[in-house]
Amino acid sequence: MPADVSVIGLGRVGLPLALSFADRGLNVIGIDNDPERLDAVRAGRMPFQETGTDELLERLHATDRLALSDRVTDAATAEHIVITLGTPSFSHIEIDMRGIRSALDDLIPHLRPGHALTLRSTIAPGTTEFVAGYLAKHRGFDIGEEVFVAHCPERIAAGHFLEEIQTLPCIVGGVGERSGEIVASLFEVFGAPIVQTTPVQAELAKIWTNIIRYTQFALPNLLMMDCDQYGANVFDVIDLINRDYPRGGIERPGFTAGSCLRKDFTFSEERSNAPGMLLAVSRVNETVPHFLVSGVKRRLGALAGRKVAVLGLAFKADTDDERDSLAHKLVRLLERELADVAIHDPHVATPTQELDEAVTDAEVVFVATNHTAFCSPQTLERIGECASGECLVVDPWNCFGAAQVFAYASELAILAGTV
Ligand SMILES: NC(=O)c1ccc[n+]([C@@H]2O[C@H](COP(=O)([O-])OP(=O)(O)OC[C@H]3O[C@@H](n4cnc5c(N)ncnc54)[C@H](O)[C@@H]3O)[C@@H](O)[C@H]2O)c1
Repeated sequence: MPADVSVIGLGRVGLPLALSFADRGLNVIGIDNDPERLDAVRAGRMPFQETGTDELLERLHATDRLALSDRVTDAATAEHIVITLGTPSFSHIEIDMRGIRSALDDLIPHLRPGHALTLRSTIAPGTTEFVAGYLAKHRGFDIGEEVFVAHCPERIAAGHFLEEIQTLPCIVGGVGERSGEIVASLFEVFGAPIVQTTPVQAELAKIWTNIIRYTQFALPNLLMMDCDQYGANVFDVIDLINRDYPRGGIERPGFTAGSCLRKDFTFSEERSNAPGMLLAVSRVNETVPHFLVSGVKRRLGALAGRKVAVLGLAFKADTDDERDSLAHKLVRLLERELADVAIHDPHVATPTQELDEAVTDAEVVFVATNHTAFCSPQTLERIGECASGECLVVDPWNCFGAAQVFAYASELAILAGTV
């Protein structure tokens, strides 16, 4: 059966998108070069958690609307080709476009007039025009007249894909008016408002959506470290800032990372007009695990040979996504202190211990992820019962509601009102 749309890269963005197209009645080819991923989808198993997608995949399994392939060239059998490949950053602050370049090189000999190429991946400003230029250079296409290219960035929050694909304004930055119209006609199936713009504005809108969040969270993280320096309580100061103040406010501290926030700012930083400004934002967020480990050492002394429990490996609450999580950095730092590290996370694929096992005899417990399951009096009770006599709890998220970044479990229980 001829496909309407192909999706190259069945990751956390591409797979829910491919399923959603198929759910709207389109014939879809999903392409990925990871055989395990393809096997899982073929067997009707989601390779990661995304709300509602298990049921959707099961439903689609009974239809023949989702075909799978490991060959990028098969994408050219559909008129619409959507690229959802990873776009990491090199460590020297430059977008790593190898995935996109390689897919383009595979596709180029197979492209024909009428094809529409959508870049759904997050990309540095200028990348859509580069891709259009690359196709024109290698095949001589008149982009915007014969072959169509647009950036249509993904801004959906993990865990909310199926809900937000039909509500979040869909930004389309076409190379030429017709590219914008043709790609919009594909995404219209979801029913969300379509906002047409230029490619570079679409690119900037996406990366700045994430830069704003990354910066917003860096401020309370910096304040947390400043408060520690001045002997102040960060949660009290945040309350003083925000209480009944009508002009905005400050977020709360925490581990701010994940594969998008940790790298998307570099797509601005690589040609920045204020070089270093966003790097400083990154340094603040990246310093939080160091700050917490140093705070523990100041209170307890060296950690060598002492049991430390880390609750949470995911980069944010209630997801199984561990990519670029600061919890991993925390674990590495603790291991470098020669601590005996135990880990518990009920969501992630990495094997971890049960809560009781992880906290038993721990002298320190870090809440590294604010999973809903952790933010309960029961978790604090288990820590109180299982951990060693005076267990230091590090809770930058204020999961336990005691408004203390560092406090002993017994103090926390009193402050949080659980005893
Ligand atoms: N994850 C998110 O929440 C999110 C949100 C918004 C935007 N984005 C952006 O969307 C893009 C994709 O992100 P992701 O998290 O889905 O990435 P991902 O790494 O989870 O998925 C990429 C997929 O592409 C496959 N792949 C890699 N190279 C391939 C190749 N040459 N041929 C075929 N398949 C190949 C991989 O096996 C993987 O399944 C990135 O640009 C990211 O920045 C991600």
